[in-house]
Amino acid sequence: MEEKLQKLKQELEASLKAATKEADILNIKSKYVGKKSEISHLLSSLKDMSIENKKKYGSLINDTKKNMEELINSRTEELENKSNITFDDTLDFEVKAGSLHPVTIMAKNITDALKRMGFTVVSGPEMESEYYNFEALNVPKDHPARDMQDTYFLDNGMLLRTQTSDNQIHAMENYGAPLRICAPGRVFRNEDLDANHENTFHQIEGMVIDKKITIENLLYVMQNLLREIFNEDVKVRLRPGFFPFTEPSYEMDMSCLICGGKGCPTCKNSGWIEMVGSGMVHPDVLRAGGINPEEYTGFAFGFGLTRLAMMKYKINDIRVLNSGDIRYLSKFNIE
Ligand code: DAH
Repeated sequence: MEEKLQKLKQELEASLKAATKEADILNIKSKYVGKKSEISHLLSSLKDMSIENKKKYGSLINDTKKNMEELINSRTEELENKSNITFDDTLDFEVKAGSLHPVTIMAKNITDALKRMGFTVVSGPEMESEYYNFEALNVPKDHPARDMQDTYFLDNGMLLRTQTSDNQIHAMENYGAPLRICAPGRVFRNEDLDANHENTFHQIEGMVIDKKITIENLLYVMQNLLREIFNEDVKVRLRPGFFPFTEPSYEMDMSCLICGGKGCPTCKNSGWIEMVGSGMVHPDVLRAGGINPEEYTGFAFGFGLTRLAMMKYKINDIRVLNSGDIRYLSKFNIE
């Protein structure tokens, strides 16, 4: 009997050693200590043995079984610990290194450049109230500017913000004047999708408020930024524009880098891409933020972050940026 038990234990040890995964352990468990295992048979045969043999072998068989169960448990633990740190190399696929998303890289480049000019980076909510997204920015309920910024209105009375300009009001309320902030973020609009329009895209807002701020300051910051972003001379044009929250307002376009200004679907064949809206902060907006327009002036700007990324990395269709299609996005394995 002793020999038999000893042999069983040795067999078990050898099998456990060879086991590599949970399924192996389960098989071993059923074979060596399960209901139909040899040791279980031995245990049930005890009842037919003489009292003497019962005494002799009872505890020996029981102890051996216990011991075998302990061996199985400790091997299970060992394998579990091992599987936490090792990969199943039977799975045959190539692991590719990821990269930052082109829009993320662009946001980082711009905020880094702005930080060097003394701007603080802030962020605001994507789910916003009508007040911060529109009213406080001088866009009352019946204003035609709302047409161009139709968005998703939520059941709770809030909306998905259409622009990062909501940060202007939050920042003035939170920090007061003087102020120098930038705010990258995601915005949403009810758009007809095409190569240059998405319902979800990114902007970066900037705002400076201080005494004696003029358009000169705005132009300086814009030029500096574009030079830093593109590392080359890019052709820009400044047009008078209209935004309810700035007066006067400007739009800055950039020569389309996809087609070199010749005209393509990305720039709607115009050769130019609208890149920045900007202007001097409207006195009503300063007032909405609790700042006295007699004492302070300021400028604000809003860059199309997504468009900048498209220009910089020559991405000709905005829709791939939200597609999550690694095959395409990995082409911009930039940093
Ligand atoms: N929020 C505007 C838009 O989405 C862009 C913009 C224009 C931002 C002028 C500004 C600004 O800060 O001064 O179209």
